[in-house]
This record gives sequence, structure tokens and C-alpha cells, in this order.
Amino acid sequence: MTDLDSLLARGRLLPVLTVAGPSIGSAVAEALLTAGLPLAEVTLRVDGALEALRAMAALELTVGAGTVVTPDQVDRAVEAGASFVVSPGLHAAVVERCRDLGVPVLPGIATASDLMLAVELGVETVKMFPADLVGGPAAVKAFTGPFPAMRFVPTGGIGPAQLSSYLSLPAVLAVGGSWLAPRDVVAAGRWDEITRRTRQALQQIDE
Ligand code: 3PG
Repeated sequence: MTDLDSLLARGRLLPVLTVAGPSIGSAVAEALLTAGLPLAEVTLRVDGALEALRAMAALELTVGAGTVVTPDQVDRAVEAGASFVVSPGLHAAVVERCRDLGVPVLPGIATASDLMLAVELGVETVKMFPADLVGGPAAVKAFTGPFPAMRFVPTGGIGPAQLSSYLSLPAVLAVGGSWLAPRDVVAAGRWDEITRRTRQALQQIDE
């Protein structure tokens, strides 16, 4: 298990954030930390994402970069303080750059062919994306047949109603998603709402 796997296995939740700039990033990080979740992914989808990531990495939060699709983005994310890298798909050059830099990587898969490449690259944990469209928990179960050692972090279309059906599967390390801190809640500065949603999800997982 990598350090990232241990963190994912502990919190079982990976908030997928779209945040821009240091002050918003820090406020969202504090909201997650207040709820007791010290982990987040900042997607590189908007201007100011790396600045947000840099500010968040200075707090007691393990922060990764998401939506990383090129090796150059890996370099920029790691320079900004990313502790791990998440990719929507499986690109050998991205995985290899992460390895070169010693940064854990969570690449995306959607098919058995992707998983075969993941195995060839020595990847042990993957993001299943977009989890709902790939087939939900039934798809994880089906993939586990030919790939019994693979661990999954399903992401995409997940909310409180889907949590337990994914997390009850032994192959699922954690689930990811934007529902804990969606863009409209972030834009409205509703930091308490992010804490509330995160606490609720953590409680649901503990039950
Ligand atoms: C991601 O990049 O992981 C997704 O945008 C998250 O999917 P969700 O918004 O459906 O949770």
C-alpha cells in the first residue's frame, strides 16, 4: 500500500474540488479539516487552481492535483505542492512522470483494456471514472473477477445515496466526488455547508 492508499483507506472519501485562488482554496481546506477529513483533490480545470492547491498544501491537508492529463501538468502540480496526482484516464507518460518524481498516482480506468495497461504499468489502485456511467458497483464487481488485486476509487455521479453500495465492496478503497464541495456551494462561500456535507458522509461511513 502506498501512503496515498493508506490515507484513502482511512478517510474513504476523496473530495474533488474545483477551486481558484489561495483564499478560496484555504477556506475549503479549513471546512474539510473542521469536518475531520484531511484529504482533497484540486482539479486543474480553472485558472487559479494551482494557486489554490499551493495554499491548501501549506495547511494540514494532504492535497493532490486532479484532471492531470500531461506530464508537464504533473511537474507543475508537484512544484505547487501536490502530494499525489489523479488523472481521468490512463496515460503511461503521466504515470511514468509521477514515478520519476516519486509521487503517488491514481489514474482513471473505464474498461478491462485500461486495467490491463494499468497492470502492465504496475499500478495497483485506479480511479474508476465516470463510475456511474461505467456501470456503478456492478462494474467494480465485474472488474474484480479478472483483476482480483486491483483497488478502485470510483468517482463520477456519486452522492450520499451511492456511498454504501460502493464502500461495502472489498475492492473499493474510497470514493471520490464533487458533492462534498460542489462549485455552487464554493461560489456562494458556504464553508459551513461543506463541513456539514463532509461530516454527514463520514458519519454515514462509520455507521
Ligand atoms: C472528477 O473529475 O472526478 C469528476 O468531475 C467528479 O465527478 P462528480 O462531479 O460527478 O462527483
